[in-house]
Amino acid sequence: MADTATPNVIRRADYAPPAFLIDTVALEFDLVPERTIVRNTMRVRRNPDASRAAHLELMGEQLEFVGAEIDGQPFANAHAHEHGLLLDNVPDSFELTLTSICNPAANTTLSGLYVSGGNFFTQCEAEGFRRITYFLDRPDVMATFTVTLRASRADYPVLLSNGNLLEEGDLPDGRHFARWEDPFRKPSYLFALVAGKLVALEERVKSGSGKEKLLQVWVEPHDLDKTRHAMDSLIHSIRWDEERFGLELDLDRFMIVAVSDFNMGAMENKGLNIFNTKYVLANPETATDTDFANIEAVVGHEYFHNWTGNRVTCRDWFQLSLKEGLTVFRDQEFSADMAGGATDEAARATKRIEDVRVLRQMQFAEDAGPMAHPVRPESYVEINNFYTMTVYEKGSEVVRMYQTLFGRDGFRKGMDLYFKRHDGQAVTCDDFRHALADANGRDLAQFERWYSQAGTPRVSVRTQYDAAQRRYSVTLRQGYADAPPAARETQKGPLLIPFAIGLIGKDGADLPLKLEGEAKASAATTRVLEFTQTEQSFTFVDVAQEPLPSLLRNFSAPVIVEYDYSADQLAFLLAHDSDPFNRWEAGQRLATRELMALAGRAASGVPLQLDDSVVAAFARVLTDETLSPAFRELALMLPSEAYLAEQMAESNPAAVHAARQFVRKRLANALENEWLKVYEQHRTPGAYEATPEAAGHRALKNLALSYLAELDDPAEAVRLASAQYDAANNMTDRAAALSALLNAAAANGGSVQAQQALDDFYRRFEKEPLVIDKWFALQATQRGSAQRPVIDIVRKLMTHPAFNLKNPNRARSLIFSFCAANPAQFHAEDGSGYAFWADQVIALDAINPQVAARLARSLELWRRFTPALREGMRAALEKVASQVKSRDVREIVEKALA
Ligand code: TRP
Ligand code: ZN
Repeated sequence: MADTATPNVIRRADYAPPAFLIDTVALEFDLVPERTIVRNTMRVRRNPDASRAAHLELMGEQLEFVGAEIDGQPFANAHAHEHGLLLDNVPDSFELTLTSICNPAANTTLSGLYVSGGNFFTQCEAEGFRRITYFLDRPDVMATFTVTLRASRADYPVLLSNGNLLEEGDLPDGRHFARWEDPFRKPSYLFALVAGKLVALEERVKSGSGKEKLLQVWVEPHDLDKTRHAMDSLIHSIRWDEERFGLELDLDRFMIVAVSDFNMGAMENKGLNIFNTKYVLANPETATDTDFANIEAVVGHEYFHNWTGNRVTCRDWFQLSLKEGLTVFRDQEFSADMAGGATDEAARATKRIEDVRVLRQMQFAEDAGPMAHPVRPESYVEINNFYTMTVYEKGSEVVRMYQTLFGRDGFRKGMDLYFKRHDGQAVTCDDFRHALADANGRDLAQFERWYSQAGTPRVSVRTQYDAAQRRYSVTLRQGYADAPPAARETQKGPLLIPFAIGLIGKDGADLPLKLEGEAKASAATTRVLEFTQTEQSFTFVDVAQEPLPSLLRNFSAPVIVEYDYSADQLAFLLAHDSDPFNRWEAGQRLATRELMALAGRAASGVPLQLDDSVVAAFARVLTDETLSPAFRELALMLPSEAYLAEQMAESNPAAVHAARQFVRKRLANALENEWLKVYEQHRTPGAYEATPEAAGHRALKNLALSYLAELDDPAEAVRLASAQYDAANNMTDRAAALSALLNAAAANGGSVQAQQALDDFYRRFEKEPLVIDKWFALQATQRGSAQRPVIDIVRKLMTHPAFNLKNPNRARSLIFSFCAANPAQFHAEDGSGYAFWADQVIALDAINPQVAARLARSLELWRRFTPALREGMRAALEKVASQVKSRDVREIVEKALA
């Protein structure tokens, strides 16, 4: 890797259409691990819509150039350089054949063509295709692809690529071939091939219009028993996209392939999705309920990309959220529909709560640091660094707001128009917004700011009740949370915020809603206010009693709401709000407020105490049998340490940990009998069921177990956890029991049982890499104690024979889990965590820059920490900055230090 020069910045404003277009591509591969020969024949012509260029500049990385031909004749004017191929004085329209060689066996970046477990795989998004052959590797160049694969039949019996299989057969010397054709034009980032020893679970289904489709889930032979859930998820996804959006599968076959070395979750290559094994393989013994849910979501996500991303793609990478925000929104809606249908609001809300929790914990933090960027970024150094929470999760919220404004039917009309206008094109976020606006007869010019302004908007709320006039006014004021410079520069004016509100009466029931000027109250007791000014008042009339406002119902916009609720009012909302999301939200506000106060006291060494009324509010939720177990589990889970630390003026992970542990212990001891009862009541005896209801019981039961493990005397909890560990017939219960044992051991003893369970877990699952990942992660995220800091355990595990830095899942399970998911231990005052972090970023930088850059981000909020920690973090960042090789990591650390 030689990218040591100061990186170039790519700007959205510099976009220009390509000087040439490529209409067809015929690729031929002779697959050999150390030396794969690629022959690439393209139909090239000048782009009538671009300014004329004499030369054709193709991108290429890590390629050995062999030769070029134009219209069948050797072409001498082709000059290979480190980043591509320059062809001088080419004709207006011609056939270009290029031959080059790459080395998949040596490719540890997992971008381009690489070998994993002896099989070949590709990953081309965003700019990996140029590591396979020279090309105009940009998404606005769309071509039809034909692919011929040749390889040893014994070593690579299965040969796959995009689209339909045209022919296959034998070749001399024990080799064979397969030829594939993808009838749809696509950008190069959607190209894929797979070759190796794989087997498939197959199903044939009929699509909406009655056509038969072949579905396959390809895995290594020993994993075939873990493919059923992925297949079911795929079938459900196909049905859902037909029903909800009228979108049908357009190919005769659809393939999913699992690979254990993979940089991210999964990839939507046309007709040949390639997945991290983590998001495919599951059976009750190896996968948790969360894994099952994630698989359903990711299978859905990649499948939905077939229309939102593939049929309509992005003009340039600044438009990434066009496909990612929209597709995340679609997968979130899919999961909600699978859990609760269109009408079970409480079941849908659990999914919504989980999604909002991720957004607030991760995306809000991103917005508060040096990587803050708009949903449609203005510039980047390395595009791989912009597959972010903002582009994905905030992008999804932006799409959701259209649906909140126009309703499901209005949103559907907008989607229909989007496909009618843009099928087969590479387009922009503006094109999407215009389709939504035009289909609903609206001007959405102001809404564009959601794409161009970075930072988390803050809405402060004032209310006033006039008893004599029976008027209730709600005044909203919008601005931004104290944003970092990167975000502040982008902020130009107020946003169109769909602000959903309800008013609650003294009996806890919703009041009728009638805004000033309206003839009568609406039937709905939630109203979406269109809040467009910096400050704006809305007046409700005929309000018989002073209401309690339920604000931003269902989290109708990705903003922070400030309103001066009293603790009693929050407890009341927690008990009564008809909006399940806001019920949960009230509990979180209550807990956050207490925890922040406690963290402040812990930071200054003042003794901690918690008011009985808070304990009582939580006790009511715990014992309220009218609430679903899944909801109770979410409501009783305290905000994470990372989220709480981020709320402090100066992040102090140790103080946050002390405060949160204090509250957990207090709730455990005060409600011991209730926890025990819940633990007993929500056991799920008998065969494992993967339904949301059964998962809800397990979640609540295991939460109870985790609280019981906090008891001053945890003997009973240790006994229960050991018994649960031994008797478990599923991974959810087994992993929860192991986690409870580890945490009880750190706090109060029981370390013999914890060690026994850990050893048993390893032996039992030695041959299941995804489970061994859990084994590493559970240890990296455990509580730890002064006598036994987790850094010591992590360092020791780095030398374990099963540890492997080159496998991203394994690196994440140990290193990322420690550096990003165990803040109290990672931010140890002696700086040991930061030194470890620096070593690992540098080591990974030489192997896999994409993964290294992700790890590098775990220190980006360093300026927000207490002075004692800040200096250690700066030193670690500077160490990395002085040794970094890749553009990926350099962009992150330079932005952090700037
Ligand atoms: N487009 C993929 C998705 O979100 C994600 C993706 C982008 C990716 N770049 C990648 C996956 C690199 C793996 C490796 O669905
Ligand atoms: Zn995606």
